[in-house]
Amino acid sequence: MPGSEEGTPLLSAPASSQRGSYATNSSGEDVVQMTLAWHGIRVTKPGPVDRVILDNINGLAEPKQVVALMGASGAGKTTLLNALMGRNLNGLEVTGETIIGGSSELKIGDVSGYVQQEELFLPTLTVYEHLMIQGGIRLAGLKKSDIKQRISEIMDELGLFKCRDSIIGLSGIKKGISGGEAKRLMVASILLDNPSIIFLDEPTTGLDSHMAQYLMNTLKRLAAGGRTIVCTIHQPSSRIFNMLDVVGRN
Ligand SMILES: Nc1ncnc2c1ncn2[C@@H]1O[C@H](COP(=O)(O)OP(=O)(O)O)[C@@H](O)[C@H]1O
Ligand SMILES: [Mg+2]
Repeated sequence: MPGSEEGTPLLSAPASSQRGSYATNSSGEDVVQMTLAWHGIRVTKPGPVDRVILDNINGLAEPKQVVALMGASGAGKTTLLNALMGRNLNGLEVTGETIIGGSSELKIGDVSGYVQQEELFLPTLTVYEHLMIQGGIRLAGLKKSDIKQRISEIMDELGLFKCRDSIIGLSGIKKGISGGEAKRLMVASILLDNPSIIFLDEPTTGLDSHMAQYLMNTLKRLAAGGRTIVCTIHQPSSRIFNMLDVVGRN
């Protein structure tokens, strides 16, 4: 990504977005459709001599699309996601413009969810227990029966019923759900917020090809329901590559 030609968009995409419109997803919930655009993003590490990590990065992600940011390890994929979300910046400086849903009033944190590369779970909980706790936090104010209903819909949408009562576990230490199920559980947690935009950092890394394919199918379905999906991918298989709607590379 550093060194991308001046003025060359990192991504290109058909201009078919319907900003502000609604779609109803497979679990019957309204999704507010939002386009995300970024322009001239520059990320530097301040120091005696500033170190430029990303420079002049432009892109567009529209509802119903799975947009993939590709690049070698260390290219700046995670940094770009963090810059777009204004999170985890650890002393990095970001300049440039991010436009969410065509409005300067919307805050990215209010309309998006982030599936980070590392899993942050309590390993002794079951899948259902985890979602009930997340539901209690993210859907505070809703009746318990409504929370349960929403969790059921999401488990159905993400194919998590089979492992509903399985312990999450800890990779290599305590046997639990598979890596693919863990990724889908992370997506399930953020779906409780009904985000318009979902960011995922290397969601297929570490999964076998079957699980990676299953996860991509899930992301495609979420996109079809009106969400905007932005993910980073390192070395996708050709099958997965062919499922992507828009690809940006360094
Ligand atoms: N907080 C930080 N401070 C200094 N350098 C950073 C910071 N975050 C990332 N970098 C550097 O930016 C570059 C891109 O990192 P990263 O975005 O993690 O790459 P990728 O996700 O594509 O593997 C790396 O050289 C990394 O060391
Ligand atoms: Mg990364």
